[in-house]
Amino acid sequence: MYVVGNWKMHGSQALIHQFLPKLCEQLSGDVNVGLCVPFPYLPACAGMLSGNVKLGAQDVSEHQTGAYTGEVSAGMLAENGAKLAIVGHSERREYHGETNALIGRKAAAALAAGITPIICVGETLAQRKSGRAEAVVLEQLDAVLAEFQFSSAREWLLAYEPVWAIGTGEVATVAEAQAMHATLRERLAQHSEAAKGVSILYGGSVKPDNAAALFAAADINGALVGGAALKVNDFLAICAAAADE
Ligand code: PGA
Repeated sequence: MYVVGNWKMHGSQALIHQFLPKLCEQLSGDVNVGLCVPFPYLPACAGMLSGNVKLGAQDVSEHQTGAYTGEVSAGMLAENGAKLAIVGHSERREYHGETNALIGRKAAAALAAGITPIICVGETLAQRKSGRAEAVVLEQLDAVLAEFQFSSAREWLLAYEPVWAIGTGEVATVAEAQAMHATLRERLAQHSEAAKGVSILYGGSVKPDNAAALFAAADINGALVGGAALKVNDFLAICAAAADE
């Protein structure tokens, strides 16, 4: 089970010093935990995280180096202690025009630097209402997979995040989430032996009170958590629910 927090463009040095020591001290049980913070906070967090809490970034450049103002390479992330990088978050797709092909190249760049990419897919409300949710999500997965190579299921993570459930308080029902995860699992199995065992995280308004039910579903292997990852007690409660699975 994986629980990865995504701070988005939130946080401060004060939050880091309040959150991280408590997280490391009180975390218990068998769960892989990650925390994806804004770029400038990586060095401070790297010095404070211990045990099985991995540090992550929220994006990565497709390029290794060069004249790409504002970009941050996977090598730079690795040098600053990051082990994970979210790629293709719906906010990047929507506000920065990221395409599936670009997301696939970003995942490849992360892998090449030894960083585990967390590849996000998910449909909008309009797409779900028009009955196209599965088709959209599978198209995203196929297009991203076409751009990068991997040799084992442990090299990357997939996150299913229905856009309509992100930051809205409207969580997908366990049945809806499980159905999409099963569809993704089937497509991964068709893709290759290496893709078959990739862990699939659910994201979208995961909170302490709905986490256990989601984690009990057969194909939900953890969560990508936004809002509830800014409150250390809530995040710890979600980690505890995952450890109980
Ligand atoms: P949320 O965000 O938990 O606040 O809905 C999830 C995400 O965007 O990864």
